Amino acid sequence: MQQKLKPDWAGEDLLSKLVNKAIETKPLYSLMKNQARRIMINTAEKKGISWRKTYQDLENSGAKELLKKYTNPNVVYPDYYQVPFHSYEGGDCCWEAAFEAPSATLAMALRVWPQEKLSPEAAHQRLRSTFHDAIAPYLPEKITDVLDVGCSIGKSTVTLHRYLCNRQKNKVRTVGLDLSPYMLAVAETLDETGEISEWIHGLAEDTDFADNSFDLVTIQYTLHELTHQATKNIFREILRILRPGGCLAIVDMNPTSPVIQNLPPSLFVLLKSTEPWLDQFYTLDVGATMTEIGFEYQGTIPSDPRHHAIVGIKPA
Ligand SMILES: C[S@@+](CC[C@H](N)C(=O)[O-])C[C@H]1O[C@@H](n2cnc3c(N)ncnc32)[C@H](O)[C@@H]1O
Repeated sequence: MQQKLKPDWAGEDLLSKLVNKAIETKPLYSLMKNQARRIMINTAEKKGISWRKTYQDLENSGAKELLKKYTNPNVVYPDYYQVPFHSYEGGDCCWEAAFEAPSATLAMALRVWPQEKLSPEAAHQRLRSTFHDAIAPYLPEKITDVLDVGCSIGKSTVTLHRYLCNRQKNKVRTVGLDLSPYMLAVAETLDETGEISEWIHGLAEDTDFADNSFDLVTIQYTLHELTHQATKNIFREILRILRPGGCLAIVDMNPTSPVIQNLPPSLFVLLKSTEPWLDQFYTLDVGATMTEIGFEYQGTIPSDPRHHAIVGIKPA
């Protein structure tokens, strides 16, 4: 039997259209959204994630005072970004989203290995390590400058930075870029020892970085928040700012994974109701898009039961 490239609940299939119709029905949407939140928080707390306490700690941490520092007045938010995400009306640009992101990230990691008794932190470390292991064969020998696009509250950035520092003898300068100043304020708050060189508020499609400034750019769990057009524009920008021979490494949901294709209806409906661009993400051939933009596409590597890594190199 031929391998299915994406789940039936995404894209143009009848099932997908039916789900989309339900989501477009306002009272139903609001019911699903609230249900999604309740399930997510209660399940996380049961599995050892201190969701409510982390929120409180961040609220009292002084993070809010950093909002101004991370608000670049020249940033113009694209339309696709100014829609509700993850059941937050303000999308990624609100304190609720930023204060819940650390716990939501741990919960995401725990979902990958449901049969194993992992602590939230152990699952998170494993989620990152499987990505690092998958991309290791493609990385340039010497990496000095690294950019994590869509860094959010910085967990992907800090784990990547530590991995590269352990792997290499030279000093690594790592930068996180995100479109949400709320997320960046939390990223700085959590980066207590200042491991990351800079947290930057900016649009990945149009950065202020000079040509040829990075050896490695990652996009971790962010592609599914983008439209096809935004992905292409971001790839074009990354091709510009990478050095020749530099690497673009992506990790996100794997549309061909049996776990993803066989999600129970309650879960895929909840997922679709909280991720506005999921149909676009599941119908995008990321490797072909990399090639179209000018990368040398290296391959797509399943990194865990739900996710895969996709790697492209800027031609030398
Ligand atoms: C799901 S989070 C990323 C999670 C994080 N990289 C990790 O692995 O834990 C997606 C992030 O991408 C950011 N984002 C979305 N579109 C963006 C764009 N065009 N430019 C920069 N950041 C963007 C959002 O603000 C959000 O913080």
